Amino acid sequence: MTQKYFSGLNYTLGNEDTSVEIELIKKILPKKIFSICGSGGRSIPLMHKGALDLTLSDLSQEQLYLAELRLSTYRELTHSDFLLFWGYFPYSDDNNQSRRRELFTSLKLSSPAYTFLSQVFHEIQFNSLLYLGKWESTFAVFAKVCRVIMGSEYDRIMRFDNLEDQIYYYQHSFPMKRWKALIHLLGNKAMFNALLYKGDFIKKNSPLSHFDYYFNAYNRLFTTDLAQKSFFLHLCFYGKIKSLHGVPVEASEESHGRVHVSKTDVHYVKEDFVTHLNRGLNQYDFLSLSDVPSYFGGDLERDFMQKIKPGLLPGAIIVLRNYLRSPESNLEGFIDITESHTKLLEFEKVQMYEIKVYKFNP
Ligand SMILES: C[S@@+](CC[C@H](N)C(=O)[O-])C[C@H]1O[C@@H](n2cnc3c(N)ncnc32)[C@H](O)[C@@H]1O
Repeated sequence: MTQKYFSGLNYTLGNEDTSVEIELIKKILPKKIFSICGSGGRSIPLMHKGALDLTLSDLSQEQLYLAELRLSTYRELTHSDFLLFWGYFPYSDDNNQSRRRELFTSLKLSSPAYTFLSQVFHEIQFNSLLYLGKWESTFAVFAKVCRVIMGSEYDRIMRFDNLEDQIYYYQHSFPMKRWKALIHLLGNKAMFNALLYKGDFIKKNSPLSHFDYYFNAYNRLFTTDLAQKSFFLHLCFYGKIKSLHGVPVEASEESHGRVHVSKTDVHYVKEDFVTHLNRGLNQYDFLSLSDVPSYFGGDLERDFMQKIKPGLLPGAIIVLRNYLRSPESNLEGFIDITESHTKLLEFEKVQMYEIKVYKFNP
């Protein structure tokens, strides 16, 4: 019964640190924003006072309903009630059920979204749905295995308040053999297909092995900033976010305040993004395409950047998050401006993506 309702919800918290796209938007102040929807946590916080439109595209209707819910909680709830509703620290995801039900029934949602989400919440007795996506549930398994393999001090790396001490611990006392065994066990195509992607896992073209790709990403997270500041590491070690430091940018007071006051029109498009942009009915000046192109192959992989041109305003900024596969695509008419944003990318709190920023230069 439960599975039926969740089948379309792959992402509920999401797995990207959207602070990169948000900081770019604060510099560029685009008017017409286009974004892959995903959990909504990667797309709704892109709003700002000067944005006229935000168009969310997804193949999954359920993801679009979830984004509609997220938007309502930003616009209709205080920041404190927003945190309670989603079960973000200092609230937890498995209590406040009656207050969450009260808040849910007070929200202005389209009736199909209300019907779907109401069924979901009744299914889970109005606990938060933050960790119930297929991806988040898979990482709950990762966290359990991590605790077993890493031993009693499994989360020591998450408990430093000083980066120098954290790096010293990581380089001298961190259970590295166990950690490498964990990444060998879980960080591979067979495991991800078995646990989540059922054969649809990305066909890697990164020159790094799966092991090196994941090991290097975690190495950056453990040596660039405090581990406890990465919501992704909280998911890896605890299956949930356990402290204020770990709360992702979507739930910050600043993000809530910015979306709360914005008058941006939001459009939900249940359609393949390439088809939508190729039709050229609307043009956009900022596009956040997540890691979707890393799932592409063949002609679509080669041509998608050319195909989306009818949907782009001159000077439009496109952000790709390449995951294990850097799309082999024709980039004629685009300038790679990633270099001008290296600082932003260095502190991104997931580090699993090769983030590329392009400017459309027709
Ligand atoms: C690969 S996931 C990434 C989600 C994201 N990491 C997050 O944190 O929410 C991208 C989302 O894009 C959707 N998607 C996949 N292919 C798409 C396409 N061609 N056009 C639009 N959406 C697509 C999926 O349904 C999923 O919700």
